[in-house]
Amino acid sequence: MSPARPTGEGGSTEKSYYAHMNLPEPVLPAPQVLTLLKGQTALVTGGNSGIGRAIAIALGRAGADVAVNYVAKPEDAEAVASEIRGFGRRALPVKADVSDEAQVQAMFAAAVREFGTIDILVNNAGMERNAPIHEMTAAQWDAVLGVNLRGAFLCAREAVREFLRRGVRPDVSVAAGKIIFISSVHEVIPWAGHVNYAASKGGLMLLMKSLAQEVAEKRIRVNSIAPGAIRTPINTAAWSTPEAYADLMKLVPYKRIGGAEEIGRAAVWLASDFTDYVVGTTLFIDGGMTLYPGFEAGG
Ligand code: BGC
Repeated sequence: MSPARPTGEGGSTEKSYYAHMNLPEPVLPAPQVLTLLKGQTALVTGGNSGIGRAIAIALGRAGADVAVNYVAKPEDAEAVASEIRGFGRRALPVKADVSDEAQVQAMFAAAVREFGTIDILVNNAGMERNAPIHEMTAAQWDAVLGVNLRGAFLCAREAVREFLRRGVRPDVSVAAGKIIFISSVHEVIPWAGHVNYAASKGGLMLLMKSLAQEVAEKRIRVNSIAPGAIRTPINTAAWSTPEAYADLMKLVPYKRIGGAEEIGRAAVWLASDFTDYVVGTTLFIDGGMTLYPGFEAGG
């Protein structure tokens, strides 16, 4: 077990913010690793960066073989794969634009060829293309909806097809398959200046719930994780300067940014039989961000 470590928001001002707020230095917890997913296979979209990377590594550490999807930067996907191989698991970097039907089908075929089947899909790939609506191009709208919503549908459909084809493997899980959507607090919090992103995440919420209802009787469990402010490349501007970080903390009751590995741990738990009765729910992991009624981050 590695020690808890400071969340550190950078630079020499790191301590003074908390001192100023009269708060103890926040730490990311480092609990014991559990191999809850032994013998299972997973596919993580957008697995080469940010939250997806942390989830892919967490699943591997928990005993799963992992297909690591990427669309750019193959070297990052390869680095994630080799970390997973270091746990003694199999890993397959696989390139696909999740908004492209043929590429998604080819990706699932490759993963099934390599691992024999897929037990867990983590629909993580997502992007932001922010603009006020009077400046937002149709291309920005299409790109975000294409990856965040259409991509999630295309991957979920292929996963369900594979789960139905294979059925339950009682030696690895009591469920026939698990799908986890990586949504956002913005599935419920409106986000001015980000209508494409918020629309995609609001859409994901009912895609997830409708699908969960539809396939539950086949013993396929569908849920979402909705992260709040997590330190990743997608929101560097929101945490990389002390001023931005202080502004961000006004939105977070727990007064620290989240670490991507915290989302990874939750994904392991939600994919495991520990949560077999959890169906069609969104797990918010946001330090309480959704508890505030007025969210006004322009961003
Ligand atoms: C967005 C981040 C943002 C966070 C909280 C996420 O879904 O991708 O950019 O910091 O929500 O607003």
